[in-house]
Amino acid sequence: MKFRKLSHALGAEVCDVDITQPMSEAQFGEIYRAFLDNGILLLRGQRCTREHHIEFSRRFGELDNHDALPRDRNSDYHELLMVTNAPNADGSPGEGRYTGRQWHSDMSFTSHPSLGSLLRAVKIPDVGGDTQFANMTAAYDALSDGMKKLIAGLHGIHMSGTRKIASADVGSQRISEQVRINPPIAQPVVRVHPETGRKALYLGEKVKRFDGMTEEESRPLIEYLNRHATKPEFVYRHQWRQDDILVWDNRCTMHQALGDFDETQLRHMERTTVLGSASGYVVA
Ligand code: OGA
Ligand code: MN
Repeated sequence: MKFRKLSHALGAEVCDVDITQPMSEAQFGEIYRAFLDNGILLLRGQRCTREHHIEFSRRFGELDNHDALPRDRNSDYHELLMVTNAPNADGSPGEGRYTGRQWHSDMSFTSHPSLGSLLRAVKIPDVGGDTQFANMTAAYDALSDGMKKLIAGLHGIHMSGTRKIASADVGSQRISEQVRINPPIAQPVVRVHPETGRKALYLGEKVKRFDGMTEEESRPLIEYLNRHATKPEFVYRHQWRQDDILVWDNRCTMHQALGDFDETQLRHMERTTVLGSASGYVVA
C-alpha cells in the first residue's frame, strides 16, 4: 500500500485503494496504523454505495446511530449523517446546510465523543466548499511548559446546538431539542489519546467556558488556544473532489467547514461516525 503526505501539519492519502473490493486484515491494519500516524486519511475516487461506505467504516469500530442528532441522520440508514445543503422535500432550506461551520471535534458534546468520522463527497460545488483540519497533538506539543501546566486540570464545557441555523423559527426549536438531548458536558482540555498515548488539545468553538469559571474569565484562554491550534503550521485545508472519502481521528484533530462556495449549488456529503470511549461529565 502506498501513502502520500497531504501537508506538513497532518494527513496522508492512501493511494490505490478501492473500498468496494475485499480487504485483508493485514491491509486494513496498514490503513489503521496510517490513520493513527497521520490524523487524517484521504481515499480518492471511491465510487461506492451507501452500504460500502457503512461497511468500510465498521472496520474502524462500532458506528454511532446518531441518536444525538436525530434530525440530521438518514431515515433509512441511521449510521449516515447527511451533511448537505439540499432543500427539504417541501422546498424549505435544509437544516444540515450549516453543519460544521465552526472549529469542532465530532460529538464532543456527548458522553461518548467520536473516535473518528468518514465523510464521503457525493456532490460538490464547482469551486470551494473546502474543509480545514487542525493537528491538536502538534498544537499541544508546541505550547510552553507553563501553559501546559496551567491547562492540565481544566475541563471545557461543550455545548450542542451552537451551529448557525437555517431560520429563527426552526432554529430555536432545534436548539432547545438539541440541548434537551445533549446537556452541556465538560471534557478535559487535554486528552490522552487511548491508542497512541499522546496528549492533544481538545477544545474548539463549542466551548464557551471552563468548568468552575465564568465565560468572561474563560474566554481569553479559550480564544488563545483555539487561535494557537489553528495556525497555518498545524492546519491542512482539503479541497474536495467528488468520490473522496476523508477519515479523521476526532481524538487528536478538529475541523471546520469553510462555506466558501456558491450556496445555490448542491454540496452533498454523507458521514459515518465511529463511536469513541466514554469521556467527560454532565454539568448542571
Ligand atoms: C462533519 C463536518 C464539514 C464539512 O461532517 O462532521 O463537520 O466540510 N463537515 O462538511
Ligand atoms: Mn464535524
